[in-house]
Amino acid sequence: MVILKSKHEIEAIRKACQVVAECHRTIAPLIRPGITTNEVDRIFEELILKHGAKPYQKGYKGYQYATCASANDVIAHGFPSDRPLQEGDIVTIDTVAELGGWLGDSAWTYAVGKISPTAEKLMRVTKECLDLGIAQAKPGNRLGDVTSVIQGHAESNGFGVVRDLLAHGIGRDLHEEPNYMHVGKPGRGPRIKEGMVFTIEPMITEGTYQMTIDPDGWTARTLDRKLAAQYEHTIAITADGPQILTAQ
Ligand code: MF3
Ligand code: CO
Repeated sequence: MVILKSKHEIEAIRKACQVVAECHRTIAPLIRPGITTNEVDRIFEELILKHGAKPYQKGYKGYQYATCASANDVIAHGFPSDRPLQEGDIVTIDTVAELGGWLGDSAWTYAVGKISPTAEKLMRVTKECLDLGIAQAKPGNRLGDVTSVIQGHAESNGFGVVRDLLAHGIGRDLHEEPNYMHVGKPGRGPRIKEGMVFTIEPMITEGTYQMTIDPDGWTARTLDRKLAAQYEHTIAITADGPQILTAQ
């Protein structure tokens, strides 16, 4: 069941989302060769706590960190580590903050120094997929209108769309309905309604969309070990259209 949110509740969710947005704004200029994702994780956690919020991912289903740090062929759920990021890496930082019982969720892919033209194109197209998807997230449309533009844009650029990890409704729980893949057909799927709050978080791959999970039980990698990128916003559906609650 989709849990619709009141305007008042959406404002409360926005506050949690803005803690996450501030984390991303803070880290963006700091991502460069030499920094470790453990350092990034610590910065996120301290900022979240400073706002009186909680790093919701820490302890979630046994996950140990405030952030997921997913470099290069890692699609999602990578562990922060002491490996210094290297020139040419791309790394996705994903976090969830809980404030006043409400959750905000946003992931962003960062370039480390100068990256390859392929990595640059993958990041650009993935961000465009997110933006095109958001533009379709308006009352009266269906979820297939969102997912089909994402799939169409990724595939027409020669990239893949991960199917095995899902976007989700969000509110007091991290994974509310609708849970959905970022592929589909226009006019299909659940109707988008005012008061819905959900993530759009396309994971786009340089090669195959198929993935593997490492023996650690979390780290999702591309099967062909080529690159993956992801941009994620938490959005609210209003009568006027989508609002990006995690806008940076
Ligand atoms: N932030 C993730 C999402 O986009 C969830 C991460 S799973 C966790 O759905 F275990 F790391 F928290
Ligand atoms: Co996320």
